[in-house]
Amino acid sequence: MNNRGRFGSRLGVVMASAGSAVGLGNIWRFPTEVGQNGGAAFILVYIVFVLFLAMPVMVSEFVIGRSSGTNIVHAFRKLAPAKWWMIIGFMGVLAGFLVLSFYSVVAGWTLKYMVDAVANRISGNDPGQIFNAFVSDTWSPLFYMAIFLLLTHLVVIRGIGGGIERYSKLMMPLLLLIIFILVGCSLSMSGSVDGIRFLLQPDLTKVTPDVILSAMGQAFFSLSVGIGCLATYASYFSKNMNLVGSAVHVCTIDTLVAIMSGFIIFPAVFSVEGVSVDAGAGLVFITLPHVFSSAFSHMPLLGYIFSTLFYLLLLLAALTSSISMHEICTAYVSEHYNLTRKRAATLVTLVYLVLGAACSLSFGPWKDYTLAGMTVFDWFDFATAMFIMPIGGIFISLFAGWVLERKLLTDELTNNGTLKIRGLKVLVFLIRWVAPIGVGMVFLDQVVKLIEN
Ligand code: PHE
Repeated sequence: MNNRGRFGSRLGVVMASAGSAVGLGNIWRFPTEVGQNGGAAFILVYIVFVLFLAMPVMVSEFVIGRSSGTNIVHAFRKLAPAKWWMIIGFMGVLAGFLVLSFYSVVAGWTLKYMVDAVANRISGNDPGQIFNAFVSDTWSPLFYMAIFLLLTHLVVIRGIGGGIERYSKLMMPLLLLIIFILVGCSLSMSGSVDGIRFLLQPDLTKVTPDVILSAMGQAFFSLSVGIGCLATYASYFSKNMNLVGSAVHVCTIDTLVAIMSGFIIFPAVFSVEGVSVDAGAGLVFITLPHVFSSAFSHMPLLGYIFSTLFYLLLLLAALTSSISMHEICTAYVSEHYNLTRKRAATLVTLVYLVLGAACSLSFGPWKDYTLAGMTVFDWFDFATAMFIMPIGGIFISLFAGWVLERKLLTDELTNNGTLKIRGLKVLVFLIRWVAPIGVGMVFLDQVVKLIEN
């Protein structure tokens, strides 16, 4: 099919893929995890997992996507000798639905906070109560979630070059610029030394099995790997794109953005007395408004700029990621049912609205509908980050390393021998052995623990 669309440039590829990777996972989830799991030690384990597990899976996804040139379900159908491999593709599409459903809820909160920041309505007075009242309301979070999904929809229906690539190339540089400004602001605050120490001085006694597991889940989530998202993007790459180089760029940008988000948040948090770093999911919605109003009480204009830029940053990051999740499903629905992109995307968006509403309501009227103590929102999050992504990661690397012909793998990695890839053998070893075994071990450990509990 030639009318699938294609990324026009290398910059477009890196910006779109990094856009998928950089998201709420970096700016909201990463600092939360760092705060709860002991700071620098967590970051160290995280970086090891990015290098040895998540990056090889990303390269595998790129290979599967580009060599098949189709959506993730059909990619396995086309490349795999056995039919059951398609299950991994279906799991990816399922995860694409589940992830964006809960993601759009948090993105909706972000949108609301950005609107409030612009209108100068963010208040440091009892921000916890304000946040809880908002998320447990029925209509208001639904409204913001729907607007966010609509924004995502409007980009996806424009296709690859004119939609995803174009807007990623616009939003990502803006996002990086905002990050640099905010890091500068935050580092000039009074608590910056403590914040920096928290981020850079590892206390290895804090590395428990739970920390290891969280770090792996975070690495997969943050790099968008394991569910065929980057494979879907890679199906629009041209044949002369350097897959390994692009993966290295995306991993580097994503990790730097995550760490810089730490440098924005923690120096600020340490600058205000009585605020704790392990505030959990409320860190950016409850702790930060408090920080903004206390730290900038003498300079309200600066506080206004800082908070507006911060929520804008979070929103842009969420949007470039949600587009990529939407695309997993849109590509599949349109190619499988032979629908135009517009029709397929509309159907997919409608499903998101329904599933997203269930996630949103699980903070309010549906909060008592739980299974094993977890709400719909918790289940969607848990099922994807803890199960589908690692299982997908194991099978995707196994597939690229063992099922695809070795020649096809190296041809894809070197563009038929025209590129010289340093460390190619090491990379192939990581794909064949280290990634599947490493992810498998951490995953099994978690399953055993679940059963024991
Ligand atoms: N990587 C994104 C983030 O960090 C989340 C994501 C997961 C995007 C899976 C696409 C697929 O926020």
